[in-house]
Amino acid sequence: MIQLSPSILAADFADLGRECRKVLDAGADMLHIDVMDGHFVPNISLGVPVLASLHKALPDAYYDVHLMISQPVRYAEAFVQAGASCITFHVEAVEDAAGAIKAIHALGVGAGVSIKPATPVEDILPILDQVEMVLVMSVEPGFGGQKFMPAAVDKIAALDAYRREHGLGFRISVDGGVNSQTGALCTAAGADILVAGSQVFAAADPAAAVAELRAL
Ligand code: DX5
Ligand code: ZN
Repeated sequence: MIQLSPSILAADFADLGRECRKVLDAGADMLHIDVMDGHFVPNISLGVPVLASLHKALPDAYYDVHLMISQPVRYAEAFVQAGASCITFHVEAVEDAAGAIKAIHALGVGAGVSIKPATPVEDILPILDQVEMVLVMSVEPGFGGQKFMPAAVDKIAALDAYRREHGLGFRISVDGGVNSQTGALCTAAGADILVAGSQVFAAADPAAAVAELRAL
């Protein structure tokens, strides 16, 4: 069963609660919250207060928080208090990935690890037995609306083969440039969760876009 996590980065922030309710009503499984610090990535998006407000408006939603920040462990607790259901950090941002996972688990939420396009799957093999999710970036993190990088499909396939071989349960998510064509390649390769921003929130009919992606 493929799950869809619309990225709110492409939503109208002046109307965030209503836009999120619309995609959840249309069948989105969770909300993908892209946090950028202007340091780990060359852009600034949103932070703790926005998540807290959203969580207050939509308390039952599952919040898939993607930290594209330099010090994910330092800020993880504030995001969990604001309503994060799981926290994904970038392996490139930390020195001690196993320690980061432990710190996130200690907050009582699931931990995900993300890899940028230039980071090989081999870099995270030693921690795959500790995470609930791997987020494969199919664009350079920092901006929505970019073109899907096909090399992500091979990474998804490698991760899927590895988890079968080792009997691991982490889910594979893919983020960046996902539409019905690229999303289909990802699900065929073993992805369980599709993150999609512009494809959903910039669509004339977001509900139809959600239905189309979930049907893959
Ligand atoms: C990129 C973000 C993505 C992005 C997805 O840094 O992590 O979640 O906003 O947006 P689209 O689907 O437009 O590529
Ligand atoms: Zn993201």
